Amino acid sequence: MNIKKQFPFFNHNPDLIYLDTAASAQKPQQVLDSMQQFYLNDYANVHRAIYDLAERATTKFDESRAKIAQFLNAKNNEIIFTRGTTEGINFIARAWAAKTLKKGDVIVISALEHHSNLLPWQVICKETGAELRVIRLQTDGNLDMVHAAQCIDSKVKLIAIAHTSNVLGTQIDVKKIGAMAHEIGAKILVDAAQSVVHMHIDVKDLDCDFLAFSGHKMYGPSGIGVLFIKESLHDEVEPYQYGGGMVYSAGYHDATWLPAPRKFEAGTPAMTEVIGLGATIDFLHTLDRELLKKHEIALCGQLIEGLQQISKVKILGPIDDLKKNGSLVSFIVDGMHAHDVAAYLNQFKICVRAGHNCAQPLANQLGLNAAVRISFGMYNLADEVAIVLGHLKKI
Ligand SMILES: Cc1ncc(COP(=O)(O)O)c(C=O)c1O
Repeated sequence: MNIKKQFPFFNHNPDLIYLDTAASAQKPQQVLDSMQQFYLNDYANVHRAIYDLAERATTKFDESRAKIAQFLNAKNNEIIFTRGTTEGINFIARAWAAKTLKKGDVIVISALEHHSNLLPWQVICKETGAELRVIRLQTDGNLDMVHAAQCIDSKVKLIAIAHTSNVLGTQIDVKKIGAMAHEIGAKILVDAAQSVVHMHIDVKDLDCDFLAFSGHKMYGPSGIGVLFIKESLHDEVEPYQYGGGMVYSAGYHDATWLPAPRKFEAGTPAMTEVIGLGATIDFLHTLDRELLKKHEIALCGQLIEGLQQISKVKILGPIDDLKKNGSLVSFIVDGMHAHDVAAYLNQFKICVRAGHNCAQPLANQLGLNAAVRISFGMYNLADEVAIVLGHLKKI
């Protein structure tokens, strides 16, 4: 695949093997160009002025929203720009859950959540007196669906759950969990940080209420993310922040809001990053995403098979599923701290993640203080996996 050539980062760092795309992906030229072009040719504040330049900037900004809406099969007004997944989840915690939940209500999460989809709910539960229930994992790292059914009862108001685990690579059937939520009148929030780039997401088909992801993990700019809020909930969700750009009318003691998405986007947005995210969608449309997925799954399988040959290595997560569907693998090396493994690989210019990967309760539950994580992007190559395995064998 010559796709790597589209990522100038690798021209600047030809010897580097970048295996940390789940943390953040490198950016294609098309995305970088779009942002530079916006600054060079079209830059002005959006939604604020009537001169031609501002109109042009606003049109480009609105086009990006439309591209993202189409990408997710959402309506334009259901796409809210945030800083990333973390802000999207905190948004719903503050602007919906804090105002809706009360003592006796329940929020359900799973045992594999990233801190971003755990801590906001811990805080909301402390503030409102609601209970936080955690769906257990099976020993293979998949969700225990029997326990899920036990956790989801009539007291539940929200299920907030990852689509794909950033630690184990586990994929969760969020459509099924969403149906369970809706059966008892609860809402579902999907943390799509790790899934949006690897699978086709159709919010109508998933029938989720809220869905959050970050641009930077899908080859787009950092500092920009998307929060999908189902249109029927726009009145139930309060603004997250208050300020310019969202007001229909304001007096000294009262104000009313414009309809969504403006109601939810106070202040000057990250305009250039929004343009960049639109270009990211264009870029993804130029590719055969099924083929890319197969490529990443093949790399994952190659890595797993290689790691299985190394007696000191223990792979975490649902290995059989990862071989069929994965794009990341976490593992530990017997007798060696994960940080030392990452530091050892770093000597050979190999970038891998090591730590608890922002999921400390999960790491604790697995009896680990840290694990090594290798995650793939479209630019990774089989040769790179072979090199990493060669070094790991010598450990
Ligand atoms: C599953 C998951 N959720 C949430 C996040 C937080 O994303 P961000 O830091 O872009 O807000 C991450 C980032 O690694 C993640 O993997």
